[in-house]
Formats: sequence, structure tokens, C-alpha cells
Amino acid sequence: MSHILKFEDSDLTVHIPFGELLLSTLLRHGIIFPYACQSGMCGTCKCQLIKGRVDLDIYSDAALTADEFQQGFILACRARLLSDVTIRKLDS
Ligand code: FES
Repeated sequence: MSHILKFEDSDLTVHIPFGELLLSTLLRHGIIFPYACQSGMCGTCKCQLIKGRVDLDIYSDAALTADEFQQGFILACRARLLSDVTIRKLDS
């Protein structure tokens, strides 16, 4: 079972296996995405959730503030999809 990840600015579609971290799947498929720590500490993988729902593993408030979370920002290295989602990369 998987959910579908779409990027707001492209036709790219990625199937994210249930329970797998968003960033892990992207990297496994060779998809370029900004990241560094892969542990929710740096914020490099921050992106915006445009549509859908995710569950976030534990992360540092320094990487994602409460205000950012309220505005729909997520950390790709901490996100597990709960539905099909669309995201916006911050560097595009
Ligand atoms: S790569 Fe550092 S918070 Fe995701």
C-alpha cells in the first residue's frame, strides 16, 4: 500500500510506501531534494504541504517552529504520509 506524492510545480508523481519517510523515498528514487541531517534537527528539508495529511516524527523546534507548522510547513525527513499529498519545494 502506498500514497501518491505530487509536487505543485511539476508533473512528477512518486508512490510513497505506507509508513515510509517522505525524504527516504525521494532519495531512494534519486529525486533531488534539499536535505542535511535527516533527523529533524536542521530544517533543510522544510517544504510546504499544499494538500493532504502527514504525520511528523519527533523534530527540533529549531528546524520547524510552531508558527511554521501552523502555516502548513513540514519536514520531509520526518513526514509519513497519511493520504495522497501535494507539496511545494521552498527552493523552486
Ligand atoms: S534534513 Fe535536517 S531537518 Fe530534515
